[in-house]
Amino acid sequence: MKIELLDPARHERRGFESGNAQLDEYLHRYAMQGQRQQLVRVYVAVDDLNRVVGYCTLSAASVRHTELSPDHARRLPRYPLPAVLIGRLASDRTARATGQRIGSRLLIHALKQALRAADSIGVQCVIVDSKPDAVGFYQRFGFMPLQADGHQLYLPIATIRMLATD
Ligand SMILES: CC(C)(COP(=O)(O)OP(=O)(O)OC[C@H]1O[C@@H](n2cnc3c(N)ncnc32)[C@H](O)[C@@H]1OP(=O)(O)O)[C@@H](O)C(=O)NCCC(=O)NCCS
Repeated sequence: MKIELLDPARHERRGFESGNAQLDEYLHRYAMQGQRQQLVRVYVAVDDLNRVVGYCTLSAASVRHTELSPDHARRLPRYPLPAVLIGRLASDRTARATGQRIGSRLLIHALKQALRAADSIGVQCVIVDSKPDAVGFYQRFGFMPLQADGHQLYLPIATIRMLATD
């Protein structure tokens, strides 16, 4: 399995099914448009036949300091803080059952991309828009709830950098 930027000329998306109709529809109908309009970068996990077995989206975003945990926010300025957003992340239901840890590998890839961005522009944290059922998946990686919305979670870039250099 490898992870690449979505390229419709090479990647076969038709059979992808995550179990969440909205996430599937996004990949099939809107992902390329989002890339063309410079709204997202879509990364796909593909098998040996270039069939998409998972995907995630990354965009620039911002977060209000009041949404972070009081402990974390205390040291930060009171204007919107720069962030990287993982807007969508899903693995194919059938491929998931083969134990390739597609979701984890996509998430780690996304965090590495965020770190690369943070080397050249300010990034305070990574945010994820989680589906309610997947909150536990992100919490396993240390993501914490944003105060405003239990389904949005965040991980400070400093924590990600520390984990990456360990
Ligand atoms: C959530 C999702 C992305 C996880 O992907 P995956 O390919 O199953 O993830 P992995 O195989 O890497 O799982 C890693 C670990 O997280 C656990 N896990 C998977 N989904 C989980 C969930 N929804 N809640 C809590 N833990 C979860 C796995 O059991 C595994 O545990 P282990 O380390 O003890 O074996 C996938 O289940 C999915 O696409 N779901 C439908 C769409 C969705 O809800 N997307 C996420 C929000 S945008």
